[in-house]
Amino acid sequence: ERLPALLAAMPKAELHIHVEGSLEPELIFQLARRNGVRLPYASVEELRRAYAFSNLQSFLDIYYAGASVLLREQDFYDMAWAYLQRAQADNVLRAEIFFDPQTHTARGVPMETVIHGLHRACQDAKQLGVDAELILCFLRHLSEEEAFDTLEQALPLRDRFIGVGLDSSELGHPPEKFARVFAKCRQQGLHLVAHAGEEGPPAYVWSALDVLKVERIDHGVQSAQDPALMKRLADEHIPLTVCPLSNLKLRVFPKLEQHNLRELLDAGLVATVNSDDPAYFGGYVNANFLETFAATGLDAQHAYRLARNSFEGSFADASAKKKYL
Ligand code: HPA
Ligand code: ZN
Repeated sequence: ERLPALLAAMPKAELHIHVEGSLEPELIFQLARRNGVRLPYASVEELRRAYAFSNLQSFLDIYYAGASVLLREQDFYDMAWAYLQRAQADNVLRAEIFFDPQTHTARGVPMETVIHGLHRACQDAKQLGVDAELILCFLRHLSEEEAFDTLEQALPLRDRFIGVGLDSSELGHPPEKFARVFAKCRQQGLHLVAHAGEEGPPAYVWSALDVLKVERIDHGVQSAQDPALMKRLADEHIPLTVCPLSNLKLRVFPKLEQHNLRELLDAGLVATVNSDDPAYFGGYVNANFLETFAATGLDAQHAYRLARNSFEGSFADASAKKKYL
């Protein structure tokens, strides 16, 4: 079995990972004890049993509840450090890590506590051989005004994150809602990405590109419904950060065998494989590769292409990319 070994060993970049989604039930309970936070679950096992999702929203409700144990800078450090060690084990050389500050500032946690803890872990990751950067995500179920407030709180720490993204409940919250705040981020020289076409229609991918002017699309799997959009994504080399096990667990595809990753690759798109929220969806990035390849019959050529796409699609600077590729 050479393919699983290749998938595990090949150097890769992970471009779609929410650090709050890497919080394992064991660490949730450890932090709850440390901080005196009461959880509505009696045990790790009971919490894990609640991880049975029917769509994106049913996941988000539990994901935001899990993050309630994060209070101190060290909590954010410990969460990110645990992810970075797992990333190293999967031969991730570059990680661009999403975080959701509004989930924490809404509970009274200062912005600096969040960013300092995460950033210190990213710096320490150099010792692991992992080049790690942060991307601040706005919660799209909240208002654009709240996104502006969040940006204002984060801008004093502008040098500790490389870009901004857009996540949370997609349907009913189109990218256009955040046109002005993304324009301001663009002026700041921040990289721009957005979740689009996970549960939402191809129209949301179009507006992420045309209105928000994002450089990458997170998920984007619904683009396959729109041939003109597929041509645009291929022609402009716009990376898609695909998360197969997330799509399976949130029922975007009923079975992994029916996932359209191969269709995206065959259409010439810069598709990548990522874990999204590995503690909730049952696998870090290598599990996503292994299970998707087994289910859809992708081969070694696809593996090389996906590894290359991950570095090509990253925001690493040109000299670092040359080294990776
Ligand atoms: N989609 C939207 N919001 C999210 C996700 C996702 O896959 N993961 C964490 N927040
Ligand atoms: Zn995501």
